[in-house]
Amino acid sequence: MSVRRLAPKEIQPEGFAFTPENTAWAERIIAKYPEGRQASAVISLLWKAQEQGGGWVSEPAIRTIADLLKMPYIRVLEVATFYTMFNLQPVGRYFIQFCGTTPCRLRGAQDIQDVLEQRVGHQGHVTEDGLFSWLEVECLGACCNAPMVQINNDYYEDLTPESFNKLLDDLAAGRPVKPGPQNGRVASEPLNAINTLLEPSLYDGSVVGSWRKRFEEEEARARAEAAAKAAEEKAAAEKAALAAREAAVPEPAKPATTRAGEQVADTPAHRVAEGKEPIKPESQQAAAPDTAPKAADRAADDKTKG
Ligand code: FES
Repeated sequence: MSVRRLAPKEIQPEGFAFTPENTAWAERIIAKYPEGRQASAVISLLWKAQEQGGGWVSEPAIRTIADLLKMPYIRVLEVATFYTMFNLQPVGRYFIQFCGTTPCRLRGAQDIQDVLEQRVGHQGHVTEDGLFSWLEVECLGACCNAPMVQINNDYYEDLTPESFNKLLDDLAAGRPVKPGPQNGRVASEPLNAINTLLEPSLYDGSVVGSWRKRFEEEEARARAEAAAKAAEEKAAAEKAALAAREAAVPEPAKPATTRAGEQVADTPAHRVAEGKEPIKPESQQAAAPDTAPKAADRAADDKTKG
């Protein structure tokens, strides 16, 4: 960020007046604005004063413009000090605005700045021969052709230290120079082989309306997916309904463990379940007196036969 101050008094000119040609031009510009709005011409007049003044705006020029537009001096001074396109100090015949913003820095702007510092000196310094001065500025909107500089009204792009040195040599020698890319490009097209947008269908019209086809296909796919999902949900619902119907049918009654009127067997398990004492073997024999004589008879028979 540069300090926006007027040049010291000792280098300010005695006075300023537009040339007759520029006065006529200024009158035409002022006449474009409705009565009472002439102050709107202030930037145009400052620009013309800078052009006439060798690339910078002096204090007398600011006062002259204020008088022309019937503005307080301070109002014109405010405009001149606000906009960085107005130089408030003398500049070289070739005023170089060097872009030092990130894209240019990434593409080698530091090498260009090194050339400037070496050949011209520090920022704002005008060379002894009055030919060059430079200022670092923010992005000049030619990042596709970085690194670049603006010299007076023209851009010089795709610079290298070699091409920039040559450019300065040519300007100093009064040789013609070509604004724009300095590496053979015409604009910001690919430098060597073109390797993008090569698909022939981009140029034969076959892809016209392809976006619509894609949307239609996507819509059909979405519809098919929704139908499949609905069918799946319907099948699941039917399965659930069937299961519910089956659960509602009463189960056939289980047959009773004993027929009606039949006594439950007096097994040890039943007795334990009913909290009764297990039947001891001697009690069993006592409970079945008819079986003992039969066994004794069978033993006597066996003895007789033997
Ligand atoms: S960053 Fe240099 S022109 Fe944009």
